[in-house]
Amino acid sequence: GAAVEADISALKPGEMMTVEWRGKPVWIIKRTPEQVAGLSKIDGQLADPKSERKPDELTPEYARNEHRSIKPDVMIAVGICTHLGCSPSSKFQAGAQASLPDDWPGGFLCPCHGSTFDLAGRVFKNKPAPDNLEVPPHMYVSDTKLLIG
Ligand code: FES
Repeated sequence: GAAVEADISALKPGEMMTVEWRGKPVWIIKRTPEQVAGLSKIDGQLADPKSERKPDELTPEYARNEHRSIKPDVMIAVGICTHLGCSPSSKFQAGAQASLPDDWPGGFLCPCHGSTFDLAGRVFKNKPAPDNLEVPPHMYVSDTKLLIG
């Protein structure tokens, strides 16, 4: 499949955009400094905090770090739940919904069976989704232009 180019120059901290690659939604999330700092605080609540499961399939080598990304503030992930393939929705605000804990650090909620993912696409424990979201192959062609695929 052809690679897709994404211009992220207009993306502000706390925002996300979606591009389509091979018929799949790919999320590009610009994390705020607080969101980046928060990633390391929830390891104990995650099923695979270091993305060690299926690394070749889910996490390219350059994203096998504490942010799951090339740049700490820019996250790229395929927006398809690893349970049965529904599309999770973004939940960046704490306390916005009864099904989310009060200390919710922001992330994604799958409407089908309630799996939750953090802002690095890592799945929380005790939910049906087995794995973290896929980080697709990607590279920067300039500071604000990405090539996905
Ligand atoms: Fe997402 Fe089941 S498809 S929780």
